[in-house]
Amino acid sequence: MTNKYIKQINCSDYQELSGRAAALVADIVKKQPKARLGLPTGSTPIGMYKILGEMNLDFSLCHTFNLDEYAGLASSDKRSYRAFMQEQLFSRINLPESGIHFLNGTAQDLEKECRRYDEELERLGPLNLQILGMGLNGHIGFNEPADSFIPQAHIQPLSPSTIKANSRFFNQESEVPRQALTMGVAPIMRAEKILLLICGKEKCALLEKALSGPITPKLPVSLLQLHSNVTIITCTKDQA
Ligand code: F6R
Repeated sequence: MTNKYIKQINCSDYQELSGRAAALVADIVKKQPKARLGLPTGSTPIGMYKILGEMNLDFSLCHTFNLDEYAGLASSDKRSYRAFMQEQLFSRINLPESGIHFLNGTAQDLEKECRRYDEELERLGPLNLQILGMGLNGHIGFNEPADSFIPQAHIQPLSPSTIKANSRFFNQESEVPRQALTMGVAPIMRAEKILLLICGKEKCALLEKALSGPITPKLPVSLLQLHSNVTIITCTKDQA
């Protein structure tokens, strides 16, 4: 049975995917100037961030919550997700520092840092839009395949496949942190709307399996079957 709560848009290439994603985000920011946006890092959203940076949108009243950060990397470290966001988006838009919310991978007490992040998410209210990418193992944020879903922010050991996939952002695989902090699945599922970006043949095949098969923490993206407002933008062509 098709899921009427999931809308899928298939694009012919990465440029189209990025343009459509940026248009959807822009629409929300224009209609809701105080929008609360959940953001991913990684390769897939780079094109969308570039276009958003060129649209002259007003983010001055927005709040962004990034999904995850590597444990042990300071925001000043160019390999951190905080630095990635600065380069790809924050430096190009008028979002004030006070609107940027991030897990701190170098907090003294990482458990406490996770609780702080959950409280901040609670205090500001549900996200209006959660943008997601997906790992080659089906992870969302850094919610890796596991025996159960974890609702709250947590310290997440990274799987060998994630470490390998993300080593392209580091000089060598041994430099990739073995742990990350990630938003749990509760704030993701509580978001008013989810936008999932999927690029490449392998990921498209995995997505199809996840959306037509059982909902299982072994394939975290399958949980989106239970959300009532999901847009998925895909392209089978690899990102150039
Ligand atoms: C990172 C994140 C991850 C990525 C996923 C896909 O903040 O949330 O779930 O979205 O690993 O990464 P790319 O786009 O690099 O393939």
